[in-house]
Amino acid sequence: MTLLEQPENDIAERIVEHVRNGTTDLAPSELRVPISHFISEERLAREMELLRRVPIIIGRGSEIPDSGTFITREVMGVPLIIVRKGDGSTAAHVNVCKHRGGRVEEDDAGRKRFFTCKYHGWSYSRDGGDLRGVPYDEFYSNVDRTCHGLTQVKVEEKHGFLWADFSNNQERLIDDWLGDEVNAQLTSFGLEDAVIVLDKSFTHDINWKIVLDGAIDILHPKFLHPHSVGKMIATNTNVWMDYGLHGQVFSPRVKMEKLIADGEQINGAWRLISCNLFVYPNSMVIHAPDHVEQWTVWPDPKVPGRSTTQIRFLAAPEHIGDERMEARMAKSWEILEDAAVNEDWPMELNIQRGAEVTPGGTFLYGRNEQPCQHLHRQLARDLDGAE
Ligand code: FES
Ligand SMILES: [Fe+2]
Repeated sequence: MTLLEQPENDIAERIVEHVRNGTTDLAPSELRVPISHFISEERLAREMELLRRVPIIIGRGSEIPDSGTFITREVMGVPLIIVRKGDGSTAAHVNVCKHRGGRVEEDDAGRKRFFTCKYHGWSYSRDGGDLRGVPYDEFYSNVDRTCHGLTQVKVEEKHGFLWADFSNNQERLIDDWLGDEVNAQLTSFGLEDAVIVLDKSFTHDINWKIVLDGAIDILHPKFLHPHSVGKMIATNTNVWMDYGLHGQVFSPRVKMEKLIADGEQINGAWRLISCNLFVYPNSMVIHAPDHVEQWTVWPDPKVPGRSTTQIRFLAAPEHIGDERMEARMAKSWEILEDAAVNEDWPMELNIQRGAEVTPGGTFLYGRNEQPCQHLHRQLARDLDGAE
């Protein structure tokens, strides 16, 4: 996987200039966000409504590799059966029986032609979720099979990710939702065939936006992670690329700062730059030398001060079994886990507690905090009609 070297733009040059001058990209103004947005049930309900009408990443196509395979997964409180159909395309059925609401499939994963509810034996086709079998159907006056199929959720596969759209907007394509720049970036990461090499989930009593803020924040590495991440990634020296709904922040490695401070020539600047692609509304994708790191942060559907963060490492299939690569990925996880578990999440738990005792205040995002500003400005556009 190679980071997209973008001959058509000058990101690497801009970063080198920022390092030389001690500058960074700046937003036009600072931003204040009401603290109530992190603790309010009413706000959460509107955010959930937003997440249910835009495409969101719910998995990887490699989790259902062959025709007929399926996984079950709860997404924002909705139980889904996600299937690889006979023709190789994907579908998602709501895992709720149309008889009296039983779970139609209880296994986490498998391969089946039909899903059969254990309660009274109604069965549904794998591909379309159509109602097929109704035991004792002579005792129902009129079970029209064409309108008793499992409820469908639109799912599209792109860049190896499964994107669900609970609004079932058939006109909106993932290509258009992501736009040319995000598509180009994700293509350059080689994600189409990448497989999951690490999969961790963490549920915390922290609002989802505080977790995301921490994940895309560029102003904290040297303060909160002085002995690990802060020694690798520079703080407050960034290029921000606004891709509309989405965006990407590029940061120099500390090594570049050192080379420039020592008056060394910078050759191959891209090797000394890390980047974090924010995919609105709740994911980010980080390109690392050996793998790609994906975060998706899920609000608890009912509790504003709770969320679940899924972190996955994705890698080219040829890295599987390569001991050197696996050791490097394990080391990356060790560093990330230490920073997250011992530094980020304790900080964020305290922020959440603090928010609950100062609900009338605001959080302040400086002009140099572009990624977090972007998240909150876009949410304000979608939820408050802000400009
Ligand atoms: S609830 Fe599923 S068959 Fe009755
Ligand atoms: Fe951090």
